[in-house]
Order: sequence, then structure tokens, then C-alpha cells
Amino acid sequence: MLTLLTSMYLVMRTVSSRAEPIRVLVTGAAGQIAYSLLYSIAKGDVFGKDQPIILILLDIPPMLPVLDGVVMELQDCALPILKEVIPTDKVEVAFKDIDAAILVGSMPRKEGMERKDLLKANVAIFKTQGAALDKYAKKTVKVVVVGNPANTNCLIASKSAPSIPKENFSCLTRLDHNRACSQVAMRCGVSSDQVKNVIIWGNHSSTQYPDVHHAKVNLQGAETEAYQAIKDDAWLRGDFISTVQQRGAAVIKARKLSSAMSAAKAICDHMRDIWFGTKEGEFVSMGVYASGNSYNIPEDLIYSFPVQIKNKTWKVVDGLPINDFSRAKMDATAAELVEERDTALDFLSQ
Ligand code: NAD
Ligand code: LMR
Repeated sequence: MLTLLTSMYLVMRTVSSRAEPIRVLVTGAAGQIAYSLLYSIAKGDVFGKDQPIILILLDIPPMLPVLDGVVMELQDCALPILKEVIPTDKVEVAFKDIDAAILVGSMPRKEGMERKDLLKANVAIFKTQGAALDKYAKKTVKVVVVGNPANTNCLIASKSAPSIPKENFSCLTRLDHNRACSQVAMRCGVSSDQVKNVIIWGNHSSTQYPDVHHAKVNLQGAETEAYQAIKDDAWLRGDFISTVQQRGAAVIKARKLSSAMSAAKAICDHMRDIWFGTKEGEFVSMGVYASGNSYNIPEDLIYSFPVQIKNKTWKVVDGLPINDFSRAKMDATAAELVEERDTALDFLSQ
């Protein structure tokens, strides 16, 4: 029996190691998030240990010498699934036939700035890259936008790529989700994998609403509602929310640079869940296209919802009961996104 299983395993390995390489684009590839991200992708943490990868690295012309250094380091990692690395400053090379796009490249905010201060500079980048997706990428491409303001940049990229389904676009709020899990876990004295189903609603900004009304904590084998496990409603409705909302700013203040290691980890979690699906009975937070049918959130926004993913397709977890406290916060962050969208569309039409 053991021999049969061993030979089946070997056959499966041989088949998968003959799999066609997938083309994965990372933009802003000479920047600090990419520096933490590329190794994880190239060693199989995101698309699978047996999935050959061609990594395409896009940055702007002045960063090409830095990109050369990144390429040398990737080569020096001697990673078996990394078939090729293509550094470029040309969108027609970068977006050609790609299966996955991780759009990080943009200007990060500095101390004292709000993420929406970046709108004008960054919206233009996402218009160009959306058009390049439309023209050069596979129609099945999965796109995650990280560059801030991530939700609105994602909306602009999607609008600029009308031939690619809107559902293929998402923006990163997994970092906020992970921050919320970690805060709850630390408060309960458990590891973060014992916390599930926290939700980040809305914008990846200080109006986001980290919500634990539906979260569960595993306390010594007993699945417990987060509110019961923590037994401190004042903290959950006060400092917990503001800590998660302000975490990006706190990291910038301390490091004088925006978060990179934790952002890279969150990108891996986000893209791996798109590729392989979410765990049974669990949901994660992701900025996705609001159709107008979920939780009375206006349509034509990229809004962070709880989602479950199967066969590379996300579905909003609908029907969760929402109390007045949550409703007000969900609407406030939606209002900010409407304003950001309208400002961004104004910039684009100028
Ligand atoms: P960074 O400045 O270290 O790197 C950004 C890179 O993007 C630079 O190498 C720059 O040359 C490049 N770039 C600029 N314009 C480009 C273009 N048109 N095409 C390709 N590359 C381009 O910044 P970082 O710390 O890596 O952060 C990148 C972005 O991610 C920022 O907008 C930051 O605010 C955002 N961010 C988002 C989250 C999130 O959770 N959504 C978390 C952390 C950071
Ligand atoms: C973060 O949440 O850490 C990033 O979006 C960086 C920022 O500007 O806050």
C-alpha cells in the first residue's frame, strides 16, 4: 500500500513539475515591499511549491540599476521553480500574457499625509496600467492592487481595462485583517491562527471599520465569540478599532517608512487565497467590486467585504446581522470611497 502511495506521489510530482510556468508581474519591484515579497513568491509560498514561475519585475527607468541587483539576488537564491526573471520599465513587456499582477508600484505616503493625499499622483499610474492589462494580459488575469489609495486605484485600473471581468480585480485590505486578528489574539493570549472571521469593511484608510462581531476565538478548544472571549466591549469599540485604523501611520512614524514586511506577508495571504480558495467555514477581507447588492453599499466602488473564495472566484459573505454601531461605520467608510472615486474620476477627465 505504502509503495503504491509513494509511486502515486512521484507521478503527481512529475506531472506537476512539468506544469507550464505562470507569468507573475510585480510592479514597484525595486521598492521595499517587493524586496520582502519576491522571495516568498519565487519559492512557492503563493502559487504552490510545484508551480513553475516566470517573474516579471516592472519599475520606472531610474530604478533599473536597482532592479538589476534584485534580479541578481533572485538568481542567487537558486530556487527550483523560478524559471526566468524579466526586469523591465516597459508596460508592453511587463503585462504581456500575465496570469497574475501584483500592482505595488506607486508613491508611498510620508509622515503626516493621509492615503488620499496620494490620489492625484497615483491615479495616473493605475490608468496606464489598467490600459496595459486590457491590451496585453490574459483575460483570466487576477489583479491585486496594493499601491495607495488602494481601493480607488483598483477601481481606476478596472475601469481602464474593460475587457477584463471586474471580478478579477481586488485590493489589499488583508494587512488590516491580519492586524485585527493579531490584536484580538494578543488580547486573548492565543496565537493568531486561533482567531477567525474578523472583517475589515470599506476603505484601506483610517475610516476602515475593523469588525469582530462575527469573529471567533479558539480558547483551549472551545470556539468562543470574540466579544465573549475578550469581555471588554469598551476596548473593542474604542482602542481596538483606532489601533487597526491607525496602524499604518504608527508604523510610518516609527520606521520613517511605510510597512513593508507585513504588507508583503498580507499580499501572499491574499493571492494564495485567490489561487487556492479560503478554508471551509472561514472568510477573509478583500477589497472587491461592490455590485450594490451587498449590505446596501453603493455600487461602483472597490469596498472591503468578508469574502469566501472557491475555484479562483470570490463571493461576498452576505446576510450577516449588522447592528446600528456597525451600520454607521460601514456607511462612513463607503461615503469616503464615493468621494475618493469622484475626485479620481475628475482628475482623469482633466
Ligand atoms: P517604495 O517607494 O519603496 O517602492 C515603490 C516602487 O514603485 C519604487 O521602486 C518606485 O520606483 C516604483 N514605481 C513608481 N511608479 C511606478 C510605475 N509607474 N510603475 C512601476 N513602478 C513604479 O514603496 P513601498 O513601501 O514598496 O510601497 C508601495 C505602495 O504600497 C505605496 O503606495 C504604499 O502606500 C502602498 N502600501 C499599501 C499597503 C496596503 O495594505 N494596501 C500596505 C503597505 C504599503
Ligand atoms: C499601511 O497600511 O501600512 C500602508 O497602507 C501604508 C500607509 O500609508 O499606511
